[in-house]
Amino acid sequence: MLSLITKDHEQVELLLNVLIEQLAELESEQQGVNFKLMDDIVNYLRNYIDRYHHPKEDLIYSYYLEHYVEDADMPNRLASEHQSLNFLSRELSHSLNMIQLDSVMSFDTLAVQLRGFVDKQRAHIQYETNVVMPLMAEKFTPDDWCHIEHLWKNGDLQDAQTIAVFNDAYKQLTQRIVTAGFIGEEKEDICLV
Ligand SMILES: [Fe+2]
Ligand SMILES: [Fe+2]
Repeated sequence: MLSLITKDHEQVELLLNVLIEQLAELESEQQGVNFKLMDDIVNYLRNYIDRYHHPKEDLIYSYYLEHYVEDADMPNRLASEHQSLNFLSRELSHSLNMIQLDSVMSFDTLAVQLRGFVDKQRAHIQYETNVVMPLMAEKFTPDDWCHIEHLWKNGDLQDAQTIAVFNDAYKQLTQRIVTAGFIGEEKEDICLV
């Protein structure tokens, strides 16, 4: 499970890097800004993360809280960050839609939202990579992982058709990103879940 989460994070980072390059364009000459590509990246991130990535992490973390933490009122930072990231991605997606519809929306406002979104996503991934995942790796026994895998595989999110759609969408997105010249080559291993 941790390797699946790490793989997700690598893919999210790649897409965030493209958004940062677009942000640099937005803040300079604006010649190379591709709003449609940005919109598709944000939508992909939003949908995939909400549908598969955060549920995986929430499952693992809930298991941890249930089995390893005695204080039932301990704040769940992971869950609250997931909620705020969800809000930011919806807000950014809305702004990108507005801009493409030529509605009143300043580039400066969009740039601030974009920067906030990328910074929060990156800080969140750092927290998970440096704090949450090492903690799980240290505390969980092989039996714990076995239970978690079982819960995940038998959960209602394991819909092969939807997973294939996400894999395909990611592949197409990275191809467009390569074509647009943002990354040199597409990663071969793109199985997401
Ligand atoms: Fe997360
Ligand atoms: Fe994550």
